[in-house]
Amino acid sequence: MKDLEWWQRAIFYQVYPRSFADSNGDGVGDLNGIIKHLDYLQDLGVDAIWLSPHYPSPLWDCGYDVSDYLMVAPEYGDLDDFIRLLEGLHKRGMYLVTDFVLNHTSDQHSWFLESRSSRKNSKRDWYIWQNSIGGRPPNNWYSWFGGSAWEFDPATNQSYYHFFFKQQPDLNWRNPEVKAAMLDTMRYWLELGVDGFRLDSLGMIFEAPDIPDQESGMTQQELYHLSRMAKSRDQRMQVARASRKMFRFQMDLSELHGLLREIRQAIDEYPGKVLVGETELVEYYGSANDELHLVFNFPLTRMKKLTPSAVLCNHFSRLTKLPAGAWPCNTLGNHDISRLLSRYGDGNHDIEIARLCLALMLTLPGTPFLYNGDEIGMLDYLANDISQVQDQIGLWTYRMEIDEMGHSPEQALAYALEIARDKCRTPFQWDNSPNAGFCPADATPWLPVNSNYADGVNAADQTRTPNSLLNSYRSLLKARKLTPALVYGGFQPLKSPPGCLAFFRGGRGVSENCMVVLNMSKGTRVIELPIRNRITRLVYSTHSREKKLESFRILSLFPFEIFIAAVE
Ligand code: GLC
Ligand code: CA
Repeated sequence: MKDLEWWQRAIFYQVYPRSFADSNGDGVGDLNGIIKHLDYLQDLGVDAIWLSPHYPSPLWDCGYDVSDYLMVAPEYGDLDDFIRLLEGLHKRGMYLVTDFVLNHTSDQHSWFLESRSSRKNSKRDWYIWQNSIGGRPPNNWYSWFGGSAWEFDPATNQSYYHFFFKQQPDLNWRNPEVKAAMLDTMRYWLELGVDGFRLDSLGMIFEAPDIPDQESGMTQQELYHLSRMAKSRDQRMQVARASRKMFRFQMDLSELHGLLREIRQAIDEYPGKVLVGETELVEYYGSANDELHLVFNFPLTRMKKLTPSAVLCNHFSRLTKLPAGAWPCNTLGNHDISRLLSRYGDGNHDIEIARLCLALMLTLPGTPFLYNGDEIGMLDYLANDISQVQDQIGLWTYRMEIDEMGHSPEQALAYALEIARDKCRTPFQWDNSPNAGFCPADATPWLPVNSNYADGVNAADQTRTPNSLLNSYRSLLKARKLTPALVYGGFQPLKSPPGCLAFFRGGRGVSENCMVVLNMSKGTRVIELPIRNRITRLVYSTHSREKKLESFRILSLFPFEIFIAAVE
């Protein structure tokens, strides 16, 4: 295959460690659980793992509040387990990218404990401290997760800044000591052999140093109201505008580019490593390929409906804006958003729709990121009681619904469950035994297991069923690997009937061009092959075809069919 970096060829798969597999029966997933399933991952056909945070954490934000960057959370295992995981992946020719939470630490991190201990402490300036004015916060900034962005600390009579929860104080990256310590942290994991980092919440690293008041002209409560009442596109745009104004001084300051270049230089000392950022702003590729290697195409995850025109519109509005040489990166799911099948499924053709989502990820230009559990069609799982909600955003929403919206506890619960991210984080469903094989039958899983594991939504049953979603994943992933045009071919849409998305992948430097036809509708469709093309090989089809492919000029498509063929 053409001279590409491994992360351009790779199919990534996000493992959420707490929910993947529990090896020691405490109801919490762990590293040994992942190690036990490495063959599963290899057999699925993924090449690289993005591991959500594996560090010690008080779990206020499910691991995104790190209390020690150099250790493994005790409930996940220890450093030896981590090294065995890494070696197990490398032995299989696979890669490991870890999560690096760099905007903030936990308030239990020793750095913060020191920092808050006294104004004179040598780590005081590692975080962002300001005087409160007459008992009021230093300014009117809000936390993204609700409330003031400042927390008053009576011990030293100052307030510290937190973009997220107050249990997640922001680091002061303008302090050279902080920068050095964080770069050292990255080097520590690189020395151990990790293959790169997913940089968490990087847009929030800097905030305006003179902390000017934001001028959105409304309170967060008012914005919450507005967003809950917004129905029309115009109203939603108004909410987005107000939110941008509200957080304008707290995110995506241009100063970040310089820091990203420094981080990039630091990791470039270790050849072949990758930086993927939790951002959708393509400016973070840098102007000379000198910042992030990969920037997520998040707008794709926000498509209300998965239609050909929405996909094409997303594609062209982004790809034309990528800096030269930048490599796209697509995803439809992660630990922060609704399961893709809960968003796009219609309840009747879920498997077909899930296959189409995967086909999109694997055939659109760019590196695909898949989310664990989507390959077996896991769905959002909504708890039935507020006491089961673990995600603090869910609990905050519940309170807002009651206090601000005046909703009943039942109404508040229904909405809070929608917002709480627990729904897409429930334990992986391995088989049809109690607790879905995630943990022993007598253990209590940290989040409830979705009972649909007993109805075939589990890996073991689907492995035995030839036509299952899991087996489709395996064959589609394999097909992509054997078809270089799908990895680095150019992209050219083809004229296609309503509800269908058809395009070529190929062109200069590609030995075998390819045609992708996705019937995203539930009707049959007919598509005409351009006169100059002839099918030479079937790469993948969800349906069997009897006629000789070479003679196809007109292709009659089954509902939800995926048809991929090599053409000349
Ligand atoms: C990122 C993570 C999310 C977390 C937040 C704060 O958005 O993906 O889970 O809550 O950062 O760290
Ligand atoms: Ca465990």
